[in-house]
Amino acid sequence: MKLAAIATILSASPAWASFDKWTPPGPYDARGPCPMLNTLANHGFLPHDGKDITREIAANALFDGLHINKTLGGFLFDFGVTTNPKPNATSFSLNDLGNHNILEHDASLSRTDAYFGSTIAFNQSIFDETKTHWTAETVTLQMSANARTARVKTSKATNPEYSMSNLGDGFSLGESVAYVIIIGDKKTATVKRSWLEWFFQHEQLPQHLGWKRAETSFEREDLDGHLQRMRELTAERTGQASAGGARKCRRQVPRCHISIVGSGNKILLRPRPRPLNRSSPAPSIDPGPCFCHHDSVLTNFAFLGQNRPFGSTICATTRFKLHDAF
Ligand code: HEM
Ligand SMILES: *[C@@H]1O[C@H](CO)[C@@H](O)[C@H](O)[C@H]1NC(C)=O
Ligand SMILES: *[C@@H]1O[C@H](CO)[C@@H](O)[C@H](O)[C@H]1NC(C)=O
Ligand SMILES: *[C@@H]1O[C@H](CO)[C@@H](O)[C@H](O)[C@H]1NC(C)=O
Ligand SMILES: *[C@@H]1O[C@H](CO)[C@@H](O)[C@H](O)[C@H]1NC(C)=O
Ligand SMILES: [Mg+2]
Repeated sequence: MKLAAIATILSASPAWASFDKWTPPGPYDARGPCPMLNTLANHGFLPHDGKDITREIAANALFDGLHINKTLGGFLFDFGVTTNPKPNATSFSLNDLGNHNILEHDASLSRTDAYFGSTIAFNQSIFDETKTHWTAETVTLQMSANARTARVKTSKATNPEYSMSNLGDGFSLGESVAYVIIIGDKKTATVKRSWLEWFFQHEQLPQHLGWKRAETSFEREDLDGHLQRMRELTAERTGQASAGGARKCRRQVPRCHISIVGSGNKILLRPRPRPLNRSSPAPSIDPGPCFCHHDSVLTNFAFLGQNRPFGSTICATTRFKLHDAF
């Protein structure tokens, strides 16, 4: 108990971080396309200038602000750091996240496509389109799926340079899950519409509307389970696997999950974790490519699992760079 308390003090966000304090960005502060990281910077859980965010800073901020497991926070940081154009970077700034087609993707919920303007600035008309799909006071995962599908459809119809990498598609799904279950309730997978509207438009945690940091921590399985459900909800509505890039990657074997074994260059293909809702049927064909992850300080991701049976291993001779990981 004592040790845990000391560890918490030593690894906490800056003392001035607070749910009650909130300051908008100044002219020299960096902000990016992620409304949640911007919000955490506005509250001081991340550096208010939005710059030089290290793995430790990111994991602490996500934990202190949102009760996200620090291992999961580090895993998310490992994606974020790849957007810093400096070689071998160990930190990123919020604006780096807006570099197009690394993590940043078209068909965002509150930002326009790179083809039309800034990938970073909040865009009211885009957000208005998203909001029309939140059709009740309580927003469900299905409404979130509908909003995302509609944004993809609009972008495809209007943007002559529309693109969606597999990684971008995975992020897009993740974002549409995250705003429901991280801002809202992970058990019911619902969130108050008023909270979402305040959050997106002000980049502030909607405490005055009753929002509170979750009492139980947010774990990797929470994300994975709901991601799978979101894929299914999208498929049920559109009759296809996914609204974005994964659609291009249909293949015959069930979705797999990759782990990196031993020294780091051996990869084992395993069936994906089951969805949280065990009564929902597993998809009969795999809708997209494998995704893989490796929870270590170095980011090693690969895109090697396609068309391989479960239980087989792949040997890689090089370290992987992050690309098309989903
Ligand atoms: C280190 C952690 C994180 C990183 C590196 C990150 C990165 C990003 C990036 C690059 C985007 C832009 C994608 C695009 O729309 O083009 C984004 C959007 C988004 N992020 Fe984050 N994010 C992180 C944590 C979170 C968390 C914890 C939440 C929880 C709610 C969140 C919610 C969102 C949402 C809802 C969007 C979509 C915004 C839109 O479509 O307009 N993110 N994030
Ligand atoms: C955080 O996640 C890691 C990896 O999933 C897990 O081993 C660890 O027990 C989790 N921590 C807590 C406090 O639940
Ligand atoms: C980055 O790291 C690689 C591998 O460790 C090394 O060969 C390279 O020189 C480093 N580049 C810079 C600019 O530090
Ligand atoms: C907002 O998005 C719309 C639709 O993509 C675009 O026409 C407009 O230029 C954007 N506004 C800004 C300020 O980027
Ligand atoms: C689980 O999935 C089944 C079948 O798709 C559905 O009828 C049921 O309502 C779901 N339960 C929950 C708690 O989402
Ligand atoms: Mg975008």
